[in-house]
Amino acid sequence: MLLMKGISKTYPSGSVALRSVDIHIKPGEFVFVVGPSGAGKSTFIKMLFREVIPTTGKLFVDGVDVMSLKPEEIPFLRRQLGIIFQDYRLLNDRTVYDNIAFAMQVIETPYRQIKRRVAAVLDLVGLRSRACDYPGELSGGEQQRVAIARAIVNDPLLVIADEPTGNLDPETSMDIMKIFSQINDSGTTIVMATHDKTIVDIMEKRVIAIEDGYIVRDDAKGVYGYEPEH
Ligand SMILES: Nc1ncnc2c1ncn2[C@@H]1O[C@H](COP(=O)(O)OP(=O)(O)OP(=O)(O)O)[C@@H](O)[C@H]1O
Ligand SMILES: [Mg+2]
Repeated sequence: MLLMKGISKTYPSGSVALRSVDIHIKPGEFVFVVGPSGAGKSTFIKMLFREVIPTTGKLFVDGVDVMSLKPEEIPFLRRQLGIIFQDYRLLNDRTVYDNIAFAMQVIETPYRQIKRRVAAVLDLVGLRSRACDYPGELSGGEQQRVAIARAIVNDPLLVIADEPTGNLDPETSMDIMKIFSQINDSGTTIVMATHDKTIVDIMEKRVIAIEDGYIVRDDAKGVYGYEPEH
């Protein structure tokens, strides 16, 4: 699902964010990317949807050579992914329903199918009764659930989240993690950057730890090796 070989990133400022990273993530895995502030977690996450371009190395996401994509091919890659941020990034002048439906409208899904699917993902995140509300009328945890619903509405193979519980209290964070668990149980691969040690300990998933741009722990190392998947 995801293959990094010799990936390094040096920003134009001279800041080195990643140093020769080798990672292989298989379909259906749930992986936490952890490490101190400034370690390179967000850089790692942003490379997956080509928000950041590696300085060296090879990067494949679901078989797509992300580094060789032409600019016009990037939206297509991003539509295959479910991307979730710490600050939700909802459209505040659209209802909950419209925020989620929008992702299906842009790929011209028929109206009836949109209606059915949005209802299903709202059920999954427990927000069916809030469909007509605006984001500003929701709590942080509820807004993040809308963002998750929007990210998965088109059935992505890979969900990528950068500190999705960074603005939430511990109890709300655990509710959010249960939703991610359910999404993962249905076969979706999840890669999540987080600071939250409590969550990582409770979830018992594969952990990739980054420090100063180096991978200092990868639970899968020696189990999978780094061979490309077939
Ligand atoms: N756009 C940028 N331009 C220059 N340097 C950057 C940029 N983004 C990140 N960096 C630098 O790259 C390094 C890694 O940053 P990154 O944001 O990936 O860390 P992080 O692990 O996500 O940290 P945090 O936990 O604070 O979110 C840091 O030294 C940072 O200052
Ligand atoms: Mg970050």
